[in-house]
Amino acid sequence: MTTWSFTHRDHLQTLMDRFDCSFFCYDLDALDEHLKSMQKMIPEGVKLWYATKANPLSEVLKTFRKNGFGIDVSAQGEMNHALNAGFNPSSMLSTGPSKSRKYLRSLVDHGIGTVVLESPNQARWLNEIALEKNQVVDVLLRVQLPWKEGKSVLGGDEITAFGMEPDAWKQSEVTSMKGLNIRGFHCFQWGNILDAKRLGSIWSTIAQKLVELSDEMSIELEVLDLGGGLGLDYEEHQSPLQFEDVSAELKKIKENFNVPEIWMELGRYAVGNFGVYCTQIIDRKSTRGRELLVTDGGINHLVRPAITNQAFPCELFRTSESQSMRYHVHGPLCTALDVLGSFELPSDIGPGDWLVFKKTMAYGFTESMPFFLCHNLPAETIIKDGSLEVLRGIETAASWLV
Ligand SMILES: Cc1ncc(COP(=O)(O)O)c(C=O)c1O
Repeated sequence: MTTWSFTHRDHLQTLMDRFDCSFFCYDLDALDEHLKSMQKMIPEGVKLWYATKANPLSEVLKTFRKNGFGIDVSAQGEMNHALNAGFNPSSMLSTGPSKSRKYLRSLVDHGIGTVVLESPNQARWLNEIALEKNQVVDVLLRVQLPWKEGKSVLGGDEITAFGMEPDAWKQSEVTSMKGLNIRGFHCFQWGNILDAKRLGSIWSTIAQKLVELSDEMSIELEVLDLGGGLGLDYEEHQSPLQFEDVSAELKKIKENFNVPEIWMELGRYAVGNFGVYCTQIIDRKSTRGRELLVTDGGINHLVRPAITNQAFPCELFRTSESQSMRYHVHGPLCTALDVLGSFELPSDIGPGDWLVFKKTMAYGFTESMPFFLCHNLPAETIIKDGSLEVLRGIETAASWLV
C-alpha cells in the first residue's frame, strides 16, 4: 500500500513558514495511485464506494469520482457537497440512522441511487414518498447483529442506533411496501481491523446470517453491503493490511454464499494514510516526573485520540541527533481530555519545533471540536500534480463567532 513519505518536506516547510499555525496537508497524487491500485485488485462483482465522512473535502471527493468509486453520504450536507463535486445521484448511497421525512424526500427528489433503511419509520416514510411520486426506490435494510466478542467504535456487541435486529425487520411490514425495491442488506459493526483473516471471519458470519434472513423474508439477495472496517496501522508494531488479502477474502465470501454483488464503502483505509497534521510546540515542562509538550492545536483539530484512546503516529519535523525520550503531548484546550498521545521524541525538542502527525487524512479535522476556546481553525492544503495548493487558510474565531 502506498504510504505518505516525507518526499514532500519542502512543501511542508513552505506551509510552516507561511502559516506559523497548525495545518493539514493531503497528498492527492498518492491517494490517486492508491485508489487506482485498489480498483485493479477488486474481484468481479465487488463495488467500492467512498464514505464521505472520513474526509469530505471537494478535491478528495473528485479524486474518488475520477477513479470510479460511488459515494456514501450520511447527511444532507454531505449529499449537497457530493453533488457539487460532480457525483451523479445514481452513484450515491445514503446511510445513517437519523433520516427525517424531509431528508428522505430530498434524497428521492435528487434521485439518489440507493437508500439504506435503518428503521421501520424510515421504511414507512420513504415508501409514502415513493408512492406519492409514483416511483420505486432501491433500498438495502441495515441489520444489527448480536455478537459474542467485545466492543468496537461502531458497536461490536453494543446496542447502537445503526439498523435493526433481524427479528425486527422480519416483524416489520417492509416487504409489502410497493414503493421500495429491497435489493439486499447492509451490516457494519466492526471498525479498524488490520487482519484480513479476521475480516473474512466477521464477513462470513454476517453473510451466513443475512442469507438466512433473506430466505426468511423472501427477499432476493442481490447486494450485500459490508460497510467499511479495513484498518490502518496507527501503531509502530503493527503490519499494514494488504488490499490483495482483503480482496481474496471478499472473493471467498462472494463464492461461498453466492452473493451477486458485494459493496463496501471505505473511509479510513481509502484515505487515512495520505495526510499529515502539523502543529507547533508552544511550551515544554516537567510535571511530577513527566515530560510534557504543549502544542498549538490538539483535540480541537484532531479529536480521534480522545475518543478511541489511540494516538496518530507522531514525529519531530526537523532532524535531530539527540537521544529520544518519552513525551506526553497536550493540546491547548482547558480540559484534561486534550491529549494527542505519548511519543518517543528527541530530547532537544522544545518551543518553536513542529510535530508531524501522520495518517491523519481520515477522521481528522471534520470529526474534531474546533470551536472550543476560540482557537484558530487549521488550514487545509493539498498536493496535486506535485504542486502545493492552499484550499482554506488559517481562520480565526472572528470568522464564525457572533
Ligand atoms: C455506514 C458506514 N459505512 C462505512 C464507514 C467507513 O468506515 P471505515 O472508515 O472503517 O472504512 C462508516 C464509518 O463510520 C459508516 O458509518
